[in-house]
Amino acid sequence: MSKVIQVDLGRDSYNIVIGNDFTSSIKAKMNESNSICILVTQKSIYNAFESKFSELESAGLAIHFIDEKESAKSIDTVVGICNKMAGIGCDRSSTLFAVGGGVVGDISGFVASIFMRGIDYMQFPTTLLGMIDSSIGGKTGVNLDSGKNLIGRIHQPNEVVIDTSFLNTLPQKEFSASLAEAMKYGLIYDRELFDYIMHNFDDILESKDVSMLEKIITKSCEIKSKIVSEDVDENGLRMILNFGHTIGHAIEAYFDYEKLLHGEAIVYGMKCALYLSKKVNNLSENDYDEALNALSLFTLPPIDIEDHDGLIEFVKRDKKFKGSTIKFILISEIGNAVISDSITLEDIKESLTVL
Ligand SMILES: NC(=O)c1ccc[n+]([C@@H]2O[C@H](COP(=O)([O-])OP(=O)(O)OC[C@H]3O[C@@H](n4cnc5c(N)ncnc54)[C@H](O)[C@@H]3O)[C@@H](O)[C@H]2O)c1
Repeated sequence: MSKVIQVDLGRDSYNIVIGNDFTSSIKAKMNESNSICILVTQKSIYNAFESKFSELESAGLAIHFIDEKESAKSIDTVVGICNKMAGIGCDRSSTLFAVGGGVVGDISGFVASIFMRGIDYMQFPTTLLGMIDSSIGGKTGVNLDSGKNLIGRIHQPNEVVIDTSFLNTLPQKEFSASLAEAMKYGLIYDRELFDYIMHNFDDILESKDVSMLEKIITKSCEIKSKIVSEDVDENGLRMILNFGHTIGHAIEAYFDYEKLLHGEAIVYGMKCALYLSKKVNNLSENDYDEALNALSLFTLPPIDIEDHDGLIEFVKRDKKFKGSTIKFILISEIGNAVISDSITLEDIKESLTVL
């Protein structure tokens, strides 16, 4: 039985459908459409589910491959997809199907937002991060040499379809790193979700039990949808989703995006944010210890940040950094986030001592 969660955004509202087979959802949309449609994915995903993709190709769907890495989020990739779409005769009524993780989703969403001034697109996330985070909320992104996601628009998908069978082929390291984002939802919004992940941590990673995964995915999607519905443009509440990200992003950049996966860097960033939550926001000793122990369950590549000032330079590039202040996300207890204006760069430097 599939579950449906609505992302309530007025005229831009859409459903997240959890538990559907991706091919049947794509075929249904193709049948509805009078135009040529296109699917964007990556070779490794295609190879892992070749018979299903072949079925769609036989039904007349064009497939376009982008590179596997973060470097695929480039303007060249955008132009490549747009040229392919124009070449095969896509028009304003065409639908773009994004089948992949955050990289495929971000670039496809951006293309859908600009091709012929905007067309429909549907997200079929294939990573846990995609399922609980990047496919929801309409943020799209393209990287420049000078930084990640510096180009982008908010363009909501028409539907998000979550087929959990994709997770069977996802590399374990990717899966584990993405679980950090679910843990984040627990820390900022839902103590019950935090407890559930913490108490079942090894089981979730080892068994990938469908009912456990669907529980975590459903809860995470509900939380993200609720937050996005209240603040689509990230002027207020949506900022709490950045818990752990200010320092996490800086750590990713400090190591040239080579050493750590996004989720792994966010675990380190959340440890620093917990330190600051205790220091300036009265997070209790008990909650601090419990949250830190939960984050210690993640197996992470060890890091050694020798140049703290160098890392702070990356913090300063954060879009939320204005003048000498930054909007920094803290928690007051497990399950409750607050937006702080009072964190200084010196505080951030001090928090690096927990790493
Ligand atoms: N738009 C948003 O709101 C948002 C939020 C968070 C992150 N992001 C973006 O998401 C990106 C990271 O996304 P990600 O973590 O999903 O990584 P990813 O998209 O790079 O995927 C990781 C790797 O796993 C492979 N893969 C994906 N699904 C697979 C499957 N089912 N089986 C086998 N291999 C599979 C991919 O080909 C890739 O090599 C970043 O660019 C980040 O900026 C966007």
